[in-house]
Amino acid sequence: MADKNEWGSNLSFILAMIGSAVGLGNIWRYPYVLYSNGGGAFYIPYIVAILLMGIPFLILEYGVGYNFKSSFAKAIKKIHHKWEYLGWFLPVAVFMIMIYYSAILGWDGIYIILSFFKGWGADPNTYFTATLLQSSDSYLGILHFIPLIAVFMLVGWVIIWFISHRDLEAGLGKVSKLLVPLLFIIMVVIVGFSLTLPGASIGLAELFHPDWSLLTHFEIWMAAFGQIVFSLSLGMSIAFTYASYTKDDADLVTNTLAIALANSAFENFAALGVFSILGYMSMQSGTAVSELVTQGTGLVFIVYPTVFNVLGQWAYVLGPLFFLTVYLAGLTSILSTIEPLSFSIQNKFTLSRKKTMTILCIVGALISMVYATSFGGSVLGFVDTFINQIALLFGVIVECIVFAWIFEAEKLIDFMNSRTKTIKLGKWWLIIVKYILPIVISIVWVGGMIDVINNGSMDQLNSTIVTAALLLIATLIFTVLPAKNKDWDKAEERI
Ligand code: PHE
Repeated sequence: MADKNEWGSNLSFILAMIGSAVGLGNIWRYPYVLYSNGGGAFYIPYIVAILLMGIPFLILEYGVGYNFKSSFAKAIKKIHHKWEYLGWFLPVAVFMIMIYYSAILGWDGIYIILSFFKGWGADPNTYFTATLLQSSDSYLGILHFIPLIAVFMLVGWVIIWFISHRDLEAGLGKVSKLLVPLLFIIMVVIVGFSLTLPGASIGLAELFHPDWSLLTHFEIWMAAFGQIVFSLSLGMSIAFTYASYTKDDADLVTNTLAIALANSAFENFAALGVFSILGYMSMQSGTAVSELVTQGTGLVFIVYPTVFNVLGQWAYVLGPLFFLTVYLAGLTSILSTIEPLSFSIQNKFTLSRKKTMTILCIVGALISMVYATSFGGSVLGFVDTFINQIALLFGVIVECIVFAWIFEAEKLIDFMNSRTKTIKLGKWWLIIVKYILPIVISIVWVGGMIDVINNGSMDQLNSTIVTAALLLIATLIFTVLPAKNKDWDKAEERI
């Protein structure tokens, strides 16, 4: 019998990890990033980012996670007893992602229903911002509660709770084995259909048209590295936690290759679908693709409904399938964002998985109600920017340094090489994880900060201060609360 926190098989581990990686970033972010950073030429920085950062970093995170077979906070405490707070920082930051992801999941749930009768009406833009979100720029909007959004968000939380509070394999493992393949199948159907639309080739020509001159621009390299960190859920203590749940015989290097490949395949496939549809729309409306294209909520909740409005009867099939894909992609990602904090809490306070998940889901659902208000949409944008561009990248750099230098990545090489059937680690890997990665990620981090400082509004600044304060306070509370587990500072090591 598998332990409550152990995968039933290697397949569950791989699929759960793919589920975490394949998310909204692959559907609504990557196609835009590819298009706006040189099209076909972007593949050069993108592949470099995967080979130089994505794969080496995942191997490191998996290796250390596997070694400790315990939660992130506990492992960090073992690596250096004074650094426990670093061990709580990332799991808490990732849990904050969970809370706002639940809002997007809620909106998407509403759109699944609307898509059966094009309930967004003739003007999807007004519907999304004014009718549904009732967006207000004033922070007083936080007092205006929107029950419809709250209900759909709560449905999401119940689903998450239902899956997460069970033993790992019976819940997340089983669900990943079902939903991740389903997600890929539906995506193939959607993209297959989109490619047959008249005008698809116009969109694809726009997407891939290479602008080689951009290769000398620093920004497109930053965009590629930023995309890979986010898309592969790198350095966020998720990969660490998932690896600590593995049995003793995992081939982590080969798993890493499979996961990175599946993630890239999915996002490039999504880009084909998105741009075929934009090409179709451009032909129908006479508007240039460059004027239609956008990312994030604008793409999913405004541009897509607009396309479905002109698509005729097919929209009643494609619409529900599309919003379902977004829901599944979001769900399998959000399920991963609760694991690091949950496992750390279970370890420190000797609470059961069931109890911990129940408490976290209730707390998460309550806090997430901020997003079911008129100011929620704005808060979401601010929190997303802060968490992704500032907090997480900071955590990623720290994690990389702690794992590569303090833990000592060297320790992993012989063990990893004895298991792998594919690539063997060597000096090259050490050079990457010890020197190249911390430097490259620091550059991306500074770039992101400069961007936020230059483009951020007063509201962005205020929200950043509030979110940062909450993150630090929560981190501190978990650190100073006395451990119930008397072995809290004695993580066993497998290697
Ligand atoms: N990797 C996910 C995506 O591409 C996003 C994500 C980030 C998921 C952080 C979990 C944690 O959308």
